[in-house]
Amino acid sequence: MYFGADYYPEHWPRERWELDAKLMKQANFTVVRLAEFSWIKLEPEKGKYDFSWLDEAVNVLANEGIKVVLGTPTAAPPKWIMDENPGIYMKDAYGRVKGFGSRRHYCYNSPEYHDHTKRIVAEMAGHYQNNANVVSWQIDNELGNMGTMHCYCDNCLDAFKKWLKRKYGTIDDLNKEWGTVFWGQTYRNWDELILPAYTAGSTGESEGYSHNPSMWLDFCRFSSYSIAAYQRLQIDEIRKFSDKPITHNFDSPYSPVDFYELGKDLDFISFDNYVNLQWGKGTYQFHSMAHDLIRGIKDKNFWVMEQQSGPCGWTAMGDTPQPGQLRLWTYQAVAHGAEAIVYFRWRACTFGTEQYWYGILDHDGIPRRRYREIQQTGKEMKELSDLIIDSRVLSNVAMVKSYDNLWSHNFHKHNNEFNYLQLLINYYSALTTNNISCDVVPPDRDFNKYKIVFMPAFNLMTDALKLKVEEYVQQGGTLVITYRSGTRHWNNFMTTETLPGYFRNVSGVEVEEFDSLNGGRTVSIEGIMGCGAASVWCDVLSLKGAEALAYYKDNYYRNMPAITVNKYGNGKVYYIGCDLDLECLTRLMSTICEASGVKPVMSKPVPGVEIVKKEKSGKQYTIVLNYNDTQASVDLEGVYSNLLTGETIKGSLLLPAFGTAVLG
Ligand code: GLA
Ligand code: ZN
Repeated sequence: MYFGADYYPEHWPRERWELDAKLMKQANFTVVRLAEFSWIKLEPEKGKYDFSWLDEAVNVLANEGIKVVLGTPTAAPPKWIMDENPGIYMKDAYGRVKGFGSRRHYCYNSPEYHDHTKRIVAEMAGHYQNNANVVSWQIDNELGNMGTMHCYCDNCLDAFKKWLKRKYGTIDDLNKEWGTVFWGQTYRNWDELILPAYTAGSTGESEGYSHNPSMWLDFCRFSSYSIAAYQRLQIDEIRKFSDKPITHNFDSPYSPVDFYELGKDLDFISFDNYVNLQWGKGTYQFHSMAHDLIRGIKDKNFWVMEQQSGPCGWTAMGDTPQPGQLRLWTYQAVAHGAEAIVYFRWRACTFGTEQYWYGILDHDGIPRRRYREIQQTGKEMKELSDLIIDSRVLSNVAMVKSYDNLWSHNFHKHNNEFNYLQLLINYYSALTTNNISCDVVPPDRDFNKYKIVFMPAFNLMTDALKLKVEEYVQQGGTLVITYRSGTRHWNNFMTTETLPGYFRNVSGVEVEEFDSLNGGRTVSIEGIMGCGAASVWCDVLSLKGAEALAYYKDNYYRNMPAITVNKYGNGKVYYIGCDLDLECLTRLMSTICEASGVKPVMSKPVPGVEIVKKEKSGKQYTIVLNYNDTQASVDLEGVYSNLLTGETIKGSLLLPAFGTAVLG
């Protein structure tokens, strides 16, 4: 199992490198990532390359048995490139140039940038093609991050037109698919097409605001396509020289860039995992779901290419990780499918934007508590390595996440408080709080291996997906859908079918009307899961074969069904017509899972404790994670052995604050 850090030797005096490598080795490191922002050092002048410093760094590391991942340096094009070709800069929706001075200041569709990219990537791949210390390539750095998903420059306008021509063939078809007759936006020819940039109706609420929703959706698809194509251009270049595995370090798994699309071209997925930052922290479920989203991209284990290792932020710092937390977060990653951990960063930098982004070492370079905790974690990872590599999370339940739906929901929020990702996180949290693991999958994944498939607010639908879902239920699957499911076609038009539109047949209900809850209004609901409250949305349902499981208790729709279940073929469909407070949703998930034969990993949940069951070569094991800052006691069913200590555990497992155990 690879274990290491992101390292920037170019930030430190040459005399320090050997000591760094020694300390890394003592910390049980086997890999570091290098070079992803170092273009200016590799090519200080056009066509004049200098790999000597990087060669030396790779050698110093190799002397201590440490391998490297090389990042292509395209996230930080040098000033000389930008001065030579100012057309490379991205433009925002106001037409303003996103100038030099930070990073990611390039457009994915710039032909000039494509040339520069190919040149540096080929040079680098060629130079290192036979270097046995290079184990893998990383393309660029966090594509689409820092608000760089969309660009509004002329290159992008040209590329958008080409993309649309390929998609629609004729301008008439485009007009039809976008509904441009609305507000007289019909385009007479391709030349007239625009990008969804600043317009009279833009009030700054969100990018694209007041533009045609179908155009906006296509623009999101196009932007993701452009990023994937740019990534592919680099992959093709590397492949001319090297057959080492290629990855990309995705930023937040909640990013709007279509990671499924980017993932298709990569040999393995990696991502950057920050838990507690200047900008806030999430629940443990938020972070567990982040890992599951990443695993779901290819249904394969992944790397964490940047794992938090200290307090961090740009202008202020998030909480300092407490003793045990760095180790705990590493186990959380491993529990959810990580099979390599690379900490960001080796040592806090004394200069530049990220002076406050603490690494394993502080600015003074002296190993302290965080170093020792990572060293200990590295030792444990080595011992558990066989169990971790190629292991699988055992899950009977999947939740479908779709980028097209995300883009549509982000544009049309239905209610100001509605948030698609938050809804998914709520469902995920409700399940995992019951000790039920949940895969997060794209809509084209095979549903048949799951007992329950959740499609919360799956709004945009296709006929093919309708068929797939119906077959899945027909054959005995349980499907759970919610308010705002099946209301739109894939091109973002509302359906004229009675809601829930595409799911009407399978759900056995009709949405008579709905109530969007504003101004802090709440509505009580009562049913099989007890009492709860909605605060975003209530669908008022009429039964067309389904059975009611819960009713509204307020308003003119008092005693009308809110939650239903319908038998369909050998399976069943739950329709949850409203949002629910998390406690009520958690009880409802427990009821639905029980009724569908999905058992929790352990029957008695402990607040703040996560339990993940995994399998490797037919052997099952369980990872228990205590996110509480106090001791936790977990009641075990059966006898276990602690795989690190060999100790036999029976009855209850005691975990210290932020403690974790691997049980076999
Ligand atoms: C991201 C980037 C890193 C670094 C960290 C900290 O994850 O990939 O280069 O900037 O954030 O901000
Ligand atoms: Zn552009």
